[in-house]
Amino acid sequence: MGKKAYKLAVIPGDGTGPEVVREGLKVLKAVSKKFGFGYTEELFDYGGERYLKTGKTITDKELANLKKYDAIFLGAIGHPDVKPGILEQGILLKTRFGLDQYINLRPVKLYNAAFCPLKDKKPEDIDFVVVRENSEGLYKGMGEFRKKGTKNEVAIQVSYNTRKGVERCLRYAFEYCRKRNKRKKLTLCGKTNVLTYAWDLWQRTFDTLKREYPDIETDYAHVDATTMWFVKNPEWFDVIVTDNMFGDIITDLGAMVQGGMGIAAGGNINPRGVSMFEPIGGSAPKYTGKNVINPLAAICALGMLLETVGEERAAHAVEGAVIKIVATKLKSLAAGKMGYSTTEIGDLIVATI
Ligand code: IPM
Ligand code: MN
Repeated sequence: MGKKAYKLAVIPGDGTGPEVVREGLKVLKAVSKKFGFGYTEELFDYGGERYLKTGKTITDKELANLKKYDAIFLGAIGHPDVKPGILEQGILLKTRFGLDQYINLRPVKLYNAAFCPLKDKKPEDIDFVVVRENSEGLYKGMGEFRKKGTKNEVAIQVSYNTRKGVERCLRYAFEYCRKRNKRKKLTLCGKTNVLTYAWDLWQRTFDTLKREYPDIETDYAHVDATTMWFVKNPEWFDVIVTDNMFGDIITDLGAMVQGGMGIAAGGNINPRGVSMFEPIGGSAPKYTGKNVINPLAAICALGMLLETVGEERAAHAVEGAVIKIVATKLKSLAAGKMGYSTTEIGDLIVATI
């Protein structure tokens, strides 16, 4: 259930992050009036600009402070003048891990067939959700160099999977699939034929848990085959559960089949803690400050935030407005080609709500 006033932490971040977050907050203001809930928003300047000035990514103290909020709304992290990896690891991954946001929830939903790159696919064919494990696997950062810099160098990167970590992710996926109540089908996406330690654990845990969910149909697909089915038969999927690395890869493809990065949103979820919602498209430096980036991914992320904190009617209204604007107004979902500016799209959504 929702409550009366939410404490939101807002991290606009880098590149086009601030522009899309601004539109998201505009929409938040509109739905809060309409559905009668209050909120406070506190802005944090974590990102590339601050890093270049101070050398700080996000400190342990700042991370601990984020635990005081009901949710976090994030724009984008990534700066062209900062070496790749520093901000991603020092801010984004540090927050996901530090707040134990062990689920990355990424819905893939086509709102308008005209924006789908696949031939003959309609909105009813592309409507599934990827549940990506968000705290372990290859993202754990375990590994080492041996004989670094020599001809005999070896680089080892470990995929770290714990029974507890796998089980909580799978359980979330089963519960989510049940609550979603669409086709009630959960597909485990892995690589049991090659990664015989990690995926043996995933498969065994999946097989054990599914006995508790007789109402859910279960299926398995290798990750390479999954990418093929995304293109050929996306209608086969309802909920997909997978590890961190595979989830990262297949959700970029998922974003494209739903119409592109301009509309793809995700939530980093800690079911008993603080969750963080973000458009998954990144900071798009070349479009920064031009008022041309599509804010709908951020607006959809805000919708996910509202649903997660318990404002389901507001979340529904946001999604309804997005569907309407995507179906009736936009020429494209891509930056600069939408037929409207970033701020105009925010205004259209607000007017529809
Ligand atoms: C994503 C991004 C991140 C990831 C990067 C920026 C670290 O690609 O959210 O999918 O790999 O998780
Ligand atoms: Mn990614």
